[in-house]
Amino acid sequence: MTDPATDTDPGIPGKATSASRTTLSHIMTQADTNLLGTVHGGVIMKLVDDAAGAVAGRHSGGPAVTASMDEMAFLEPVRVGDLVHVKAQVNWTGRTSMEVGVRVLAERWNESTPPTQVGSAYLVFAAVDADGKPRRVPPVLPETDRDRRRYQEAQIRRTHRLARRRAIRELREQRAAEGFQD
Ligand SMILES: CC(C)(COP(=O)(O)OP(=O)(O)OC[C@H]1O[C@@H](n2cnc3c(N)ncnc32)[C@H](O)[C@@H]1OP(=O)(O)O)[C@@H](O)C(=O)NCCC(=O)NCCS
Repeated sequence: MTDPATDTDPGIPGKATSASRTTLSHIMTQADTNLLGTVHGGVIMKLVDDAAGAVAGRHSGGPAVTASMDEMAFLEPVRVGDLVHVKAQVNWTGRTSMEVGVRVLAERWNESTPPTQVGSAYLVFAAVDADGKPRRVPPVLPETDRDRRRYQEAQIRRTHRLARRRAIRELREQRAAEGFQD
């Protein structure tokens, strides 16, 4: 099945992945903790959304809103004092949307070991105009083998997201036609 979103627009020049890739770093404090004393997942999600939003804005050259966040994984606890790095890049672009991949790393405040990966997520951003309507984005130009792998994997996730949304919409329409009011 072809995805019309991947039709390239010759009018919009592409942008290399590295042009918008970014890292947001933040030291965790007592204000970020949950009842267990480790960092609250929502604090990490906010940093993930912030970093991904910065990348989406830089890639698309204007405002972009979060359309979805999926596969948010928390791999290891983050502790007060840890220096958290949130690394984000555009993995894939469609017509008006972008998938941003995010990796979260923590440098332990009391260890001199390499950073530990503590989380990851994929977010879809839609670029919007001043009226909040979706606008075209430059196609992303993957530069390395890793970028190209991420592009291909993002395309698979995109296909699954569209299929899932369509299947759920059809189920709801079918139930409504059968008289269910749920
Ligand atoms: C995201 C939003 C702009 C989409 O608007 P829309 O009128 O549904 O427009 P479209 O259906 O054309 O979708 C625009 C693009 O976003 C993608 N998209 C929309 N909803 C999506 C979702 N839930 N998951 C993944 N992608 C999505 C579409 O596939 C399309 O991509 P494409 O052009 O590359 O094919 C709109 O729903 C919105 O403004 N949502 C609120 C965003 C927001 O406030 N975010 C912050 C949350 S607090």
